[in-house]
Amino acid sequence: MKDTVILAYSGGLDTSVLIKWLQEENDVDVVTFTMELGQNSDLEKVSEKAQALGVKKHYSVDGTKEFITKYVFPAIKANALYEGKYPMATALGRPLIAKKLVEIAKKENAIAVAHGCTGKGNDQVRFDVTVKALAPDLKVMAPVREWGMCREAEIKYAKEKGIAIPHLADPYSIDQNIWGRSIECGPLENADQEPLEEIYTLTTSPENAPDKPEYVTISFEAGVPVALNGKKMDPVKLIEQLNEIAGKHGVGRVDHIEDRLVGIKSREIYESPAAEVLIEAHKDLEKMILTRHELEFKKMVDEKWTWMVYTGLWIDPLREALEVFVDKTQERVCGDVKMKLYKGRCWSAGRSSPMSLYDKNLATYEVETSFNQAYAEGFIELWGLPTKVANVLKEKVKKEK
Ligand code: ARG
Repeated sequence: MKDTVILAYSGGLDTSVLIKWLQEENDVDVVTFTMELGQNSDLEKVSEKAQALGVKKHYSVDGTKEFITKYVFPAIKANALYEGKYPMATALGRPLIAKKLVEIAKKENAIAVAHGCTGKGNDQVRFDVTVKALAPDLKVMAPVREWGMCREAEIKYAKEKGIAIPHLADPYSIDQNIWGRSIECGPLENADQEPLEEIYTLTTSPENAPDKPEYVTISFEAGVPVALNGKKMDPVKLIEQLNEIAGKHGVGRVDHIEDRLVGIKSREIYESPAAEVLIEAHKDLEKMILTRHELEFKKMVDEKWTWMVYTGLWIDPLREALEVFVDKTQERVCGDVKMKLYKGRCWSAGRSSPMSLYDKNLATYEVETSFNQAYAEGFIELWGLPTKVANVLKEKVKKEK
């Protein structure tokens, strides 16, 4: 009997070639696994394709809801934007796929799991670290890291093995789920050139977006979105609808240079309409509810959380420990944020919360207020004291020279 290997299978060229490669070069039975994370893949078709390539068994799992509640929600609570820009759709999806790979490997008594990542990216790290942490005895195979085939060689191999070649002309590497779409490679590697409009599928170009702004009200409870325009909604539906609305206004496009964990700077394009709106709205609401001290400290925690997830350390205890802090702050984060969407941008146009620390009576420029302005003078005296002392000394030293 042959050994079994579980392959994370997308139905694309790389992973299709991998099926044949593993069967022939490693002489193993291949069991494929495809996970739906809200990218609307045709699971039926992917399954047929895998079967046609002679796999022993194929698994499809819809993990969209789990992805949102266990991976995306913590990211919203932590305002997770890697290097200030990337909502991490891909980075958040990988550890969940890896976890399922391990589950199937155990069920099938497999000796290894395999994925189609190259040796130059972050995804290999996310898969490998998660699998090794969950199942230290399981081997991780990443043939693409070793085989040294360029795209042309791969296509030649595919032809020889009778593998249908999808989108032959498509030069891009794309990963998509409900939290966003990551686009790399091909002409995008010319960092000085604007991407062609053809690469975008979730967002209208700002130029072609409606000339009238649209408002969308997001209601939060315990730091996560629960309703859209006053309508309570299942999280999957909420994010789907918001992707639609914000995408129509061209919101959520990112074009930036990113520092990969492996030391490479890469040019990355993202489309994450719902993510951009939700994180912006959440940040705005937090500023109304959390104290200045909480906000200042949480920023560091958020950044560390984001770094852990980006660099493949989802499974590390520190990520969980940071979340305990974040969750504590989120207990009070509830209320409504009215977001304005217009020509590729979104911003908050109003917010309210029963837990608001904003006190109009204190903030007002009117004279009738409970804020005692007479205290200000003494406060400033003490606040500026160290600065004053330091400067007086500086002048004195200068004169003595
Ligand atoms: N640079 C992003 C990340 O590391 C996106 C990766 C996209 N992956 C892909 N196979 N195209 O999370």
